[in-house]
Amino acid sequence: MGILDDKVAIVTGGGRGLGRAHCLALAEAGATVVVNDLGSGIHGERTGDSPADEVAAEITKLGGRAVANHASVTDWGATEAMVADTVAEFGRLDVVVNNAGIVRDRMLFSMSEAEFDAVIAVHLKGTFALTRHACAYWREAAKRGEPVAGRIINTTSGTGLFGNQGQSNYGAAKAGIAGLTILTALEMRRYGVTANAISPIAATRMTEGLEVGTDLRATDGFDPRDPANASGVVVYLASDAASWLTGQVLRIEGNRLNRLEGWTVSGVYPSRSGEALTPEELIDAVPRLYGAAPAGRATGVGQ
Ligand SMILES: NC(=O)c1ccc[n+]([C@@H]2O[C@H](COP(=O)([O-])OP(=O)(O)OC[C@H]3O[C@@H](n4cnc5c(N)ncnc54)[C@H](O)[C@@H]3O)[C@@H](O)[C@H]2O)c1
Repeated sequence: MGILDDKVAIVTGGGRGLGRAHCLALAEAGATVVVNDLGSGIHGERTGDSPADEVAAEITKLGGRAVANHASVTDWGATEAMVADTVAEFGRLDVVVNNAGIVRDRMLFSMSEAEFDAVIAVHLKGTFALTRHACAYWREAAKRGEPVAGRIINTTSGTGLFGNQGQSNYGAAKAGIAGLTILTALEMRRYGVTANAISPIAATRMTEGLEVGTDLRATDGFDPRDPANASGVVVYLASDAASWLTGQVLRIEGNRLNRLEGWTVSGVYPSRSGEALTPEELIDAVPRLYGAAPAGRATGVGQ
């Protein structure tokens, strides 16, 4: 018995890296997996190979149940069909793992419109598109009185949560995904659907040559940058054991799980007059509220 027996999951970008590891872990836990991947390079260019077929075959060979899907998550109609086809073939859909991703890094003052749009399209619109169609399906099922235990598991990133230079398109998309996770959780709670996001760190082709996670220490054969390190959390979030947890971002650093909190109020300055704050009063008040910074230097960025 696996903790995901009888569950059906879609994993986008499931052909490589983190997505592949999630597919294998979900299947090992008993889920039927729709391995979505259109087969692209890290910048979104078509490579002509079919990693979705490879992963689906790998799962089948291991005794699991999987099918490949080759749609782009940026395609509204194709993501709608992905949900409909999954339900038609397997009778249900329980879990959506939004993982597909590309990068087109550049400092923002040099970034082209196409570079910005392409990254937003795959990450933010792609996450929204499949989430939207899955949630419509779950809402209809709930309205028919069927039991629903829907799970949205999104993929955000340290860049979107804490910042990283040269990735304004990617970071904006990933911050948007963290926000979308909270909104999805709020709107779908009443229908029995949870929405959470993971913030993983892994050595994949996307992070090749970058210092991502290189500060995490390897111990006794444990590889802190193995993509599979995040997959245990994905399986847990997909399971019935996590039905109470929603609207959260879970950051996985090697073998450590970090609970993250979003924007919080960390100081308040009420106006002296009780009326609206004036620019004159703020000249004194703001440096005190933020801790006086050396003249001309911004605080709170670049950390
Ligand atoms: N690797 C890390 O350290 C790290 C850190 C934080 C977040 N992430 C996120 O994790 C996710 C997976 O990244 P990865 O490192 O495994 O990269 P990867 O390049 O190995 O895998 C991404 C997969 O997405 C697929 N893909 C790209 N565009 C697609 C589209 N339009 N439709 C369907 N599939 C598409 C690619 O073909 C590829 O197989 C991404 O969302 C990435 O931003 C990765």
